Amino acid sequence: MFLHRLSRVGFRIARTSMPVSRSSTSTSYFGAIFNRFMHQMTNHHFSTTAINEACEGLENKEKISVTFVNKDGEEKTISVPLGMSMLEAAHENDIELEGACEGSLACSTCHVIVMDVNYYNKLEDPTDEENDMLDLAFGLTETSRLGCQVIAKPELDGIRLALPFATHNFAVDGYVPKPH
Ligand code: FES
Repeated sequence: MFLHRLSRVGFRIARTSMPVSRSSTSTSYFGAIFNRFMHQMTNHHFSTTAINEACEGLENKEKISVTFVNKDGEEKTISVPLGMSMLEAAHENDIELEGACEGSLACSTCHVIVMDVNYYNKLEDPTDEENDMLDLAFGLTETSRLGCQVIAKPELDGIRLALPFATHNFAVDGYVPKPH
């Protein structure tokens, strides 16, 4: 993985520093790029530490930090890839968030409470379907959302989500939601 990234960086350096001759064959051109890259490598014209730091910075930008607080007040902070729902992230990290309908908006067992209203305000507005399910959630609050509908995006980096004391599982509680 590292060598692959290093090669790409080396390729960029070579591409930007090599004069491009339109008459050269692709074989000799890429051969020259490779030679230039190896020259840069062996003469330490760039720092591998700096490259590593740059790569880590890029990777971190693709993930956000999310803290789940369980009903006992215990916290667990995880890294969540952009685009992943909080429900999926919780399940991948052994966090007890139910998700009985697996994200199909047919339950409220993935109920989470956004602990900071500033983060709550950064979320997309809930759809009518989500609101309908939230109405059935145990311990609903002003900043409640369904975890399967909260998708990781850069603005949510640092969000804290509390897990409610209990959830209503329709299958267990025997409740059948009425159509609207
Ligand atoms: Fe059922 Fe989120 S898992 S609505």
